Amino acid sequence: MPEPMTQTFPPAFLWGAATSAYQIEGAVGEDGRTPSIWDTFSHTPGRTAGGETGDVAVDHYHRYRDDVALMAELGLTAYRFSVSWSRVQPTGRGPVVQRGLDFYRRLVDELLEHGIKPALTLYHWDLPQELEDAGGWPERDTAFRFAEYARLVGEALGDRVEQWITLNEPWCSAFLGYGSGVHAPGRTDPAASLRAAHHLNLGHGLAVSALRAAMPAHNRIAVSLNSSVVRPLGQDPADLAAVRRIDDLANGIFHGPMLHGAYPETLLEATRSVTDWSHVLDTDVRTINAPLDALGLNYYTPALVSAASGEVKGPRPDGHGASEHSPWPCSDDILFHQTPGERTEMGWTIDPTGLYELIMRYTREAPGLPLYVTENGAAYDDKPDPDGRVHDPERIAYLHGHLSEVRRAIADGADVRGYYLWSLMDNFEWAYGYGKRFGAVYVDYATLERTPKSSARWYGEAARTGALPP
Ligand code: NOJ
Repeated sequence: MPEPMTQTFPPAFLWGAATSAYQIEGAVGEDGRTPSIWDTFSHTPGRTAGGETGDVAVDHYHRYRDDVALMAELGLTAYRFSVSWSRVQPTGRGPVVQRGLDFYRRLVDELLEHGIKPALTLYHWDLPQELEDAGGWPERDTAFRFAEYARLVGEALGDRVEQWITLNEPWCSAFLGYGSGVHAPGRTDPAASLRAAHHLNLGHGLAVSALRAAMPAHNRIAVSLNSSVVRPLGQDPADLAAVRRIDDLANGIFHGPMLHGAYPETLLEATRSVTDWSHVLDTDVRTINAPLDALGLNYYTPALVSAASGEVKGPRPDGHGASEHSPWPCSDDILFHQTPGERTEMGWTIDPTGLYELIMRYTREAPGLPLYVTENGAAYDDKPDPDGRVHDPERIAYLHGHLSEVRRAIADGADVRGYYLWSLMDNFEWAYGYGKRFGAVYVDYATLERTPKSSARWYGEAARTGALPP
């Protein structure tokens, strides 16, 4: 008789939650911090819903002690956060500002005292504005600035943080920031977006080496990619070719050099009309291919594509915000479709099997590399009941569905070491402002009071028991 599949996870599995600096910290002018591209962008009229900014966000900078205490009370065993570059190195060059760095030291110490393992992301989209003024990620020098910043943070916190993540979702930085322009810095130049992707890759590779030199050898270095699950609408050759092109632009462009030491030839060919790739110097790909200790996968929803028949006009329905400019260079002949099924408040279709597919793909493509789900979660229109409680059964169902697929992947041989729910608490959802609530903890934006939703209790029980509650 086959053994019944239990919903029990390995004992060392990490049950975490994730956040990022600009989305939660606030305190944008304190202790020497200078503007990042997200300060500039959110303060530019028309860029974010309702003109909302991260000026106050959820005031985590002042409330981190309470937030850590809440994580501990819930039962979380890990926490993924990001460091604001312009808080610790305001101009993106030169020496660190101790007061900025001290915040992260205090945060990490607080986590460790509560038995919560910190995972530190160095770059979650908030480039110091001065570096953008010098050209931003399309410029090669930005990669070297990033490596220097990585070294400084590595030297300062490498004695107490073991899990390091260089970049978060570089696809968004490159293609939403410089292609469709729905993210900071809001540029719409396909050639610049491809150059940005390469320099993010290069920055990652240089940062891995810089961190290795700066930190104890047992620390683990990873990158978090929003690796996409791309599915064809039909099975004809044109649709399958569309899948390959989008897969190259979403996945191959990062995994190629990071994991396999080369950009896919098909990617280079498909984008020749906007770049000759002469910005890639001979040794770059070897630098980017620096060995990693783990791979972080962020997953929300799959993409469904087809070859376009006829001309495509107007905003494209590809789930990354409305813009007349596509984030996908050289892909005007490809259409994105709404996948069938229930959707979250973001309009993203719920498909937990996509997470299983993704994990199994990287189990095959990067054999031996431990995997972490560094983000997964859902936005819903949560509201407190008259008694003040917040019930979010949809989010519990979402988490249950996706964690079950993680469990299935582990049973099928994948080495998944942990899961970080996005997000610990409601926060600034970039161009969508505060309207989209991803948190397991509800935040009342008028009082900044935190209230764990029922999903937070459910997830905490999973963390404490190592198994999924019904
Ligand atoms: C990915 C990003 O890393 C995070 O910042 C964002 O809030 C979530 N996805 C939800 O869109």
